Amino acid sequence: MENLKDKRILLIICGGISAYKSLELIRIFKKNNCKIRTILTKSSKEFITPLSVASLSQGKVYDDLFDVENETEMDHITLSRWADIILINPTTANTISKLAKGTSEDLASTVVLASNKPIFLVPAMNVRMWEHPSTKENLKILKRYSYKIIGPETGQMACGEYGEGRVTEPLKVAEKIDEYFSNLKKNRRLKALVTAGPTNEYIDPVRFISNKSSGKQGYEIAKSLYKNGYQTTLISGPTNLEIDENINLIKVETAEEMFNETQRNLPVDVAIFSAAVGDFKIKKRLGVKIKKQDELVLKLEKNIDILDYVSKHNSMRPRLVIGFAAETNDIEKNSLDKLNKKNCDWIIANDVSKKEIGFSSDQNEVTIYYKDNKKEKLTKKNKSLISDEIINRVNNFIN
Ligand code: CTP
Repeated sequence: MENLKDKRILLIICGGISAYKSLELIRIFKKNNCKIRTILTKSSKEFITPLSVASLSQGKVYDDLFDVENETEMDHITLSRWADIILINPTTANTISKLAKGTSEDLASTVVLASNKPIFLVPAMNVRMWEHPSTKENLKILKRYSYKIIGPETGQMACGEYGEGRVTEPLKVAEKIDEYFSNLKKNRRLKALVTAGPTNEYIDPVRFISNKSSGKQGYEIAKSLYKNGYQTTLISGPTNLEIDENINLIKVETAEEMFNETQRNLPVDVAIFSAAVGDFKIKKRLGVKIKKQDELVLKLEKNIDILDYVSKHNSMRPRLVIGFAAETNDIEKNSLDKLNKKNCDWIIANDVSKKEIGFSSDQNEVTIYYKDNKKEKLTKKNKSLISDEIINRVNNFIN
């Protein structure tokens, strides 16, 4: 597990019968040269002692006796900034509930709330607790916040019952963390480009024709790419959205500008075209405002197809080209036509006739059509989760 070397892991141990397994996890991390700091929740100390954790981790152990009001050596913000990742092992149903609500009633939940780092949960609980609708709802919320969930496993429980809820074994948890850092390292060398939002095609200086698009799905895709380590450029038409400053955001208005910026930012390894580009532009854009009149005839001409241009580029075609298809009818047929005609590797299609998904909604439901005739449906969920699922598949393709 060479990718763990020198990584800073902030390990939070919750109270549960499987808390003792976190000692083995610390041993594995130390063997792989990780730097560990640990937070023990109050109830975890019923199961393991701060002394055993401190001896194994050779690092400082924090608990609620650590005075959040009078932090001198390291405050809760610095503690969360110190870490490369935060790992909560085991994570109890109670902690899942607290994190979903965003409470900050003890050191562990305060640090997590104040964190801007990837957070991994390793749930462990009785099968009924795991299957309870409130736990499921809380997990949905945490997944939406991009928390990564490892396990749980199915098997015999400490309470004697059988089912899903057993904590994932320490070696497997360490391997998952190693895999995360490995993907990050590989992807840091890779460049990704995303187009998003609508374009404005000007008639005169104050009027334009546009497409309906909030840009949300494209922005979420750029965020997921960045989170996964890619050097990400987002070329965006006019939207009200904001994005992390580490993403190279290029704002454009017209399809022509979007095309020019796309060309300027090639070559890339992955290109995802989610923009609702205007198919037409005004043939003769007027330099002065058109005065009111009884009738106005506008002549439109075709805009260049950016996706088509990039995916048919002889020397600079990205390794993976993904297009979108927003359709109202004959979704499969239209998507496959676009896949072939535009020489894409994948087309991600959504049904924009459904009100609760697509366009301005925070939710989406899409089908990915692959070049080898396979297709895959990503069921309705938050656009950020859809993006994470898409980028997981991008990682598998590219690495
Ligand atoms: N696209 C593009 N440049 C254009 C038009 C479309 O890059 N000038 C991209 C979109 O970003 C999307 C894909 O092509 O990834 C499909 O866009 P869509 O508007 O659904 O398809 P069109 O080819 O315009 O076909 P139609 O509007 O007739 O369905």
